Amino acid sequence: MRHPQRLLAAPYAPPVGDLDATTILITGANTGIGKATARALAARGAELFLACRSAPKTQAAMAEITAATSNDKLHFLPLDLGSLPSVHACADAFLTTGRPLHVLINNAGVAGQRGLTESGFELAFGTNFVGPFLLTQLLLDRLRDSAPARIVNVASDAHSNAKGIDFAAVRQPTKSRTALPEYAVSKLANVLHAQELARRLDGQQVTSYALHPGVIASDIWREIPWPIRRLMKMGMRSTNDGAKTTIYCSTAPELVSESGLYYERSQRKRTGSAATPELGRALFSRAEAWVVG
Ligand SMILES: NC(=O)c1ccc[n+]([C@@H]2O[C@H](COP(=O)([O-])OP(=O)(O)OC[C@H]3O[C@@H](n4cnc5c(N)ncnc54)[C@H](OP(=O)(O)O)[C@@H]3O)[C@@H](O)[C@H]2O)c1
Repeated sequence: MRHPQRLLAAPYAPPVGDLDATTILITGANTGIGKATARALAARGAELFLACRSAPKTQAAMAEITAATSNDKLHFLPLDLGSLPSVHACADAFLTTGRPLHVLINNAGVAGQRGLTESGFELAFGTNFVGPFLLTQLLLDRLRDSAPARIVNVASDAHSNAKGIDFAAVRQPTKSRTALPEYAVSKLANVLHAQELARRLDGQQVTSYALHPGVIASDIWREIPWPIRRLMKMGMRSTNDGAKTTIYCSTAPELVSESGLYYERSQRKRTGSAATPELGRALFSRAEAWVVG
């Protein structure tokens, strides 16, 4: 039994987390895997910037996370990844805070939706790759200044279904009926982005990772008709499970010397055969040209 006098004498100390000195920006954290990731990182003390489309949805998520973790170092940044001006505004808003950036988590994404982004890219490619590519470029100097720092791309094993990137098609509205082939291309781009970042940032203590979160019962299946969706989701893993590999890539000390690799269930995994250095270099050069105008 603990001595009552010792209990009285103990000074109050707030809970100490291993991420108390870590600042993280995560996109798409108002729901799904992103919210579960933000909650787990907040529980470990991180300061979090939640970059999302909807202020009311994100503020509700932040209130829920603070209530669950007692961490109130949470900030909302408006971000629509389909709009390059919005990505610039989001990066500017973060840079103006003067905060360091230790981890950038490119989590937000769409699947199974058709169309063209405001900035003129195929909907999945523009949202899942072009917007995050620009956001990463705009935050690179802050990541370098905050090193050691990490960039984590939430990709998908669906990237293996893409045989390559048709650079003309990604500037057109979605062609397929399901939009899943286009989703696969966007996720291949996420994997290539992490690989090419590793090559370009070699020796600068900014490392990059891509991952598959698992097949997770999140809102990403919203386009699937309700009765089928309900049945499908019953067999899927939880969003908390889906957050695990992102958290691993964002924080595991043993990954500090690994960069540009792909993970699933917190383990290294081979990428699909289209994820070659040549295609990564070609994609990066195209993307640099696209985002400057
Ligand atoms: N769930 C799975 O089984 C699975 C499997 C493999 C990979 N992934 C990947 O995991 C990541 C997270 O997905 P999830 O399953 O958690 O899906 P989700 O529940 O649908 O969450 C997606 C998030 O992305 C945001 N988002 C969508 N379009 C955006 C835009 N234009 N600008 C800014 N934010 C935008 C959404 O915001 P709103 O709420 O405003 O729409 C939401 O916060 C995605 O990259 C997805 O591709 C998921």
